[in-house]
Amino acid sequence: MSNQKQQLNAIAAAAIRTPTPSNCQPWQLRITDTTIELYHQSIRGKFASLPDDLSIFGLGMMAASLELAAQQQGLMATFDRPPLEQRCDAKPWLIAHFSELTAPPSARDQLLADHLASRHTDRREYAGGSPNDPVFDEMRAEVAAHAGTSMQFITEYPQPYQKLQLEADLSILQWRELRHDFMKWARFTEKERQRTQDGDSWDDLLGETKNLTYYLRLFGWSLMQKNRLLPDLIQRKVISMLDKPLSELHQDGAAIACITTADGDLETLFTAGHLAMRTWVLLNARGYAYQPLCNLTMFVYPTYRSDYQLPPTIAPYFEHAYAVLRETFGFAEGAIPAFCFRTGLPVAPFDADHFSLRRDDRIIHAGESR
Ligand SMILES: Cc1cc2nc3c(=O)[nH]c(=O)nc-3n(C[C@H](O)[C@H](O)[C@H](O)COP(=O)(O)O)c2cc1C
Repeated sequence: MSNQKQQLNAIAAAAIRTPTPSNCQPWQLRITDTTIELYHQSIRGKFASLPDDLSIFGLGMMAASLELAAQQQGLMATFDRPPLEQRCDAKPWLIAHFSELTAPPSARDQLLADHLASRHTDRREYAGGSPNDPVFDEMRAEVAAHAGTSMQFITEYPQPYQKLQLEADLSILQWRELRHDFMKWARFTEKERQRTQDGDSWDDLLGETKNLTYYLRLFGWSLMQKNRLLPDLIQRKVISMLDKPLSELHQDGAAIACITTADGDLETLFTAGHLAMRTWVLLNARGYAYQPLCNLTMFVYPTYRSDYQLPPTIAPYFEHAYAVLRETFGFAEGAIPAFCFRTGLPVAPFDADHFSLRRDDRIIHAGESR
């Protein structure tokens, strides 16, 4: 095999580990003699009931991974990208070309390339951490390099924000199509996840006892509501009781962050994904744990980006969502919240056994059928 081919294979193998929502892995990489083409498979896209914003965000993440993976091979990646408005499954969403690096990478690029393979999602409790840690200055420098994006950190979680979190989780239970989509990737056992090489196991998602009790209560509440077992007033009382465990949920880490875009342009959403990938690797590289929290933004972003209408059953939950998020995170009027995550110091090193599996049929070579 030629050296160039080996380099392309190594880049594809590193880039395919880019995280995707619920490990749904909608990307297929096609290696040609000189390029890597990136195809999207909508059927594997997450939250098919919502606009495909998460895939555009994911494309930005893939681009950041390809750049870092290329750098590991002493190469620079540049991209041909058809306009996002024309995206379709039949054509690549992005074509990566590679050339020799002309200058040594910056110290931060080197750090990120070195840690690309150890990036992971840590859903355990965290052991503190502080937003005054120097890594958060590095994060701000990354944000400054990504035009049209911003990132806010919070350490307090006001009651309206907690209520919104709860209602977002409830919306997944109440919206049939979305619930099915969620369940499609939720593997019940680790064994099933090993077999399918995709999705998240319930052990992953609900491993923490308090998360499990939270979801069980939530589910019970949804059943009661569906079957009209409780009058409205009592339902509201139940909701206020459910708020309690949630209020304790995120006090363990350094902060919750929200990445926003300055406008609803798809290009800015791509840039936000690029930022998310780099800052995720950066936090992991500096010893910080990381878990995306997208249950709110996945509803709010499409609604505010494109006048998308949520189904009438759940739309009332999000009537004030934008105002609550803006009040909580303090982003500029007009900015749109695209992605949230929690971060903090890990309780213990991340166990190598817990790295998420990836399907091995996601990389193909020119000549093989897609
Ligand atoms: C755009 C995006 C949204 C995600 N949303 C959530 C989330 O809301 N909650 C969560 O626990 N994990 C979330 N994840 C984490 C994925 O489930 C995880 O990255 C994937 O299963 C692969 O695992 P790994 O990150 O350990 O490699 C999200 C990931 C991405 C890329």
